[in-house]
Formats: sequence, structure tokens, C-alpha cells
Amino acid sequence: TADAGARTARGGVDTPSRAAIPARHLRRDRWWLAPAGTAAGLLAFVVYSTWRAFANSDYYAAPYVSPFYSPCIAHNCVPMGGGADWDWIGPWWGLSPALLVLIFPLGFRLTCYYYRKAYYRGFWASPPACAVPEPHAKYTGESRFPLILQNVHRYFFYFAVLVAGILTYDAVLGFRDGTGAWGHMGLGTLVLLANIVLIWAYTLSCHSCRHIVGGRLRTFSKHPVRYRLWGWVSVLNARHMQLAWASLVSVAVADFYVYLVASGAFDDPRFF
Ligand code: FES
Repeated sequence: TADAGARTARGGVDTPSRAAIPARHLRRDRWWLAPAGTAAGLLAFVVYSTWRAFANSDYYAAPYVSPFYSPCIAHNCVPMGGGADWDWIGPWWGLSPALLVLIFPLGFRLTCYYYRKAYYRGFWASPPACAVPEPHAKYTGESRFPLILQNVHRYFFYFAVLVAGILTYDAVLGFRDGTGAWGHMGLGTLVLLANIVLIWAYTLSCHSCRHIVGGRLRTFSKHPVRYRLWGWVSVLNARHMQLAWASLVSVAVADFYVYLVASGAFDDPRFF
């Protein structure tokens, strides 16, 4: 019929095989609140992290280094001493050293299963919420270029483990004082510690991690160690969204704390 033809042309949820409901959707709650809040939160982080990544200043206040600038692998990094100077990239690199390393945590989060859901809903409205049709007529999922590239997430996971290891090292170095002597603890030490705990919790709660640890096993009883680890990762995995946000906030807070101390706006309170 003409009506069916028109509906086929419109596509999406309007195809003739779906029930013909005149209303755009039947939800009466404030379903837009979650995608709007998600988009606002992600946008705030993007603005803040872009400013800090390009700032190329105030990222080291002995003994604390900002997680945005670690590992600082360029020749133009401020000298940090105590095993934190990597100096892998020569003087030809004139931009902010953060740009060399941020690609890894950024790629990990951009391709993360949770963040994908978050920004598909928040920015692309594809779909904006459960039972609310998307405005796009066609849906191809992640089966074609460019979204098929989201499959690289599992490789970013390995880099994320590496970065988490380096940030752990930075947190341990936070127990030195400005002269390099051990036995210091300031508010910054606790800020870096809290951040690395959340970063590890988020990284290990990753769906790829869960699959690496316990996937492709036919019989759990024959692999008791992997089964135990899979159980632990599954507990974290159930909180993946919360950990994604908590670690996003903590990494920004840790960077901002170092910025405040390094720029002289705040004096790091020392406990011992
Ligand atoms: Fe979110 Fe891997 S699924 S970090």
C-alpha cells in the first residue's frame, strides 16, 4: 500500500514490519535526563583535558606528576629526577609531551563498551534512550568502517595496563619528598593513590579483561585459578559504568591538584 511504501521510505522504527504507533515514543519519564547529563559530563572532561594537554606547564610539583603527563617521554619534559625522566623523544618534539601519551588512555576510553553506549546516546542520539527511536533512518551498528574499528579496544586494554603500571610507579614516588628522600606523605600522595586505585579498578573491570581472564573456557572446574580471577573481574565488571566515571573524575582531580601545587596556587599539606 501507499502507506507501507511511505513507511518503508522513512525507515528506522517506521518500517511496515513494526507496529504503526503515531506517537514518536511512549515513554513519559524524563528519559532525556541521562543522555543529557552524560553528554554534559563528557563535554566538561573533553574541554578540561584539552586545555591541560596543550598547556605544557604546571604538570610537575615534586614529587607529584600529573597523570596527563605520565610517562613524560619527551626531551622537553621538566626534569623530575628519581627515575621519572624517560627522555625517549628528542629535542625535535616541540609540542606538549602529554600529546605523546594521552592517545593510549584516550583510545582505551573512546573504544570502551560503556563509553560507546554513553556517547552514542549522549551525542549521536543513536538511540538516545531505551524505547526512544533514533532520528537516523538507517542503522548499521558497528559492523562497517569506521565503527568496526571499535574492535581495537582489546589491544588498547594492554596499553591501559601499561599506563596503569606507570601511574602506580608515580604514586609510589609520591612517598618521596622534594629532595628525593623517602618517608613523605602529603595530600598529593593520597590524591595520586586514590586515583591509581580507581584507574586499576576501571581497567580491570573492562569487558575485554573479563574475556581474557575467563573467556573461551569450556569447563570452569578444570581451570580453578582462571575461574577465581574471572569471578573477581566479574564483580568489578558489574560496576563498570560507575568505575568509568569515578576514574574519569579522579584523573582530572589528580591533574588539577598537581596544577594547583605546581602553579603555586595551593600548598600541599604534609602529614609526615
Ligand atoms: Fe570499558 Fe574495556 S569495556 S574499558
